[in-house]
Amino acid sequence: MDKMVVQGGQELNGIVSVSGAKNSALKLLFASLLAEGHHHFSNVPKLMDVDSAANLLHSLGCETHREGDSFDVIVQRPKTTEAHYDLVRKMRASILCLGPLLAKYGEAVVSLPGGCAIGTRPIDLHLEGMKALGAEITLEDGYVKARAKKLVATNFLFELVTVGGTENIMMAATLAEGTTVLENAAKEPEIVDLANYLNKMGAKVKGAGTSVITIEGVNELKPASHAVMSDRIEAGTLLIAGAISGGEVTVTNIHPEWIESLIFKLKEAGFKVSTTDNSVTVHKAKSWQAVDINTAPYPLFPTDLQAQFMALMSLAEGTSVIGETVFENRFMHVQELCRMGADITPKSRVAVVRGRPGCLSGAPVMATDLRASASLVLAGLAARGETTVGRIYHLDRGYEKLEAKLGALGAKIKRVQ
Ligand code: EPZ
Repeated sequence: MDKMVVQGGQELNGIVSVSGAKNSALKLLFASLLAEGHHHFSNVPKLMDVDSAANLLHSLGCETHREGDSFDVIVQRPKTTEAHYDLVRKMRASILCLGPLLAKYGEAVVSLPGGCAIGTRPIDLHLEGMKALGAEITLEDGYVKARAKKLVATNFLFELVTVGGTENIMMAATLAEGTTVLENAAKEPEIVDLANYLNKMGAKVKGAGTSVITIEGVNELKPASHAVMSDRIEAGTLLIAGAISGGEVTVTNIHPEWIESLIFKLKEAGFKVSTTDNSVTVHKAKSWQAVDINTAPYPLFPTDLQAQFMALMSLAEGTSVIGETVFENRFMHVQELCRMGADITPKSRVAVVRGRPGCLSGAPVMATDLRASASLVLAGLAARGETTVGRIYHLDRGYEKLEAKLGALGAKIKRVQ
């Protein structure tokens, strides 16, 4: 099992470009199920989760070809519309094949995703939305069985903001009869990227990126081509890497407004941050202030950057109160950061971080989930001595060549068996 070994104390300086967004690419691949034929995607990150999505598409009868950052999907009428547990359990985003299969073929059998390290993460709102579109939904043997002769448009209010729920229902509604209105929809940039692709396929989606999305159903969609948007969470992770190391790092190929909330908080902590229309630079700071954050749906502070920001706050001057309002168990990195010398008290949805500059020392630590592993690598960059992060398969799910990107900025980091 691979480990990441980080020698702390190196300043990171330089320019780094981010890869394609995991949390857009996965949904674009599943959206291809809405139209038989040859879909072409570029800027697709090389990640384990993308491989998992490809395996699921293969099990549904699709062919896929990867060439560099290009990824082609040839969709043909599936032999089965069942997404098997073995494939879904590896990646809960697989539930997003439900909407496309149901809309296109009138049926879908998708394994319930099960929980994951950061929480139970139910899909009740996905299923409520499908029922609102006229689907019959039953839960049998751990599988969601969905059936509908023809989906019929609906007005659906999400009782809480759900990225995946918004995406699943938006995709299903593209082939429903009539015009669907989704209210309290998630506004993440990845949803806009998906809507843009659906519209290239011939769908009529309006309002993506706002809390009201309107989808006018059409009879058929056609395959198309699309470049995946860049990964704003990777961009934020790399900026925090620069900040925590005391260096100056410019992240390119990113729209600053996608991480406006992080930029705001870095400035509040005392960092100078400059931007162009496709880059963000965090400037050197020898010390920084503790600031409070509360994670929340876009455009507020992203839960996917909470663990990384907590590592930064553990070295700040003062006490930071970090609220995690999206997931119920996303403080798994706290104990490992404490083993490195951080002073953090986790409560159920809030962690109190008593920052102390220079408090981190290297240690063997264990990754528990994707963003927690990133947080431990960042802490290792600033810790005295050597940090070894175990179970970094978590990291490989969502970061393409992170050690190469950090190494190119001056980090002393290597992957060992
Ligand atoms: C997406 O997960 C992302 N994953 C997550 O990124 C991200 O943290 C999350 O959105 C929030 O931004 C992908 O895009 C593949 P949600 P998703 O539905 O869609 C509850 C990462 O690190 N909920 O917005 O699963 C749910 O339990 C990953 O890249 C229901 O209660 O998130 C959670 O508490 C981690 N019922 C909250 O809503 C539902 O039917 C937000 O979940 C659906 C969700």
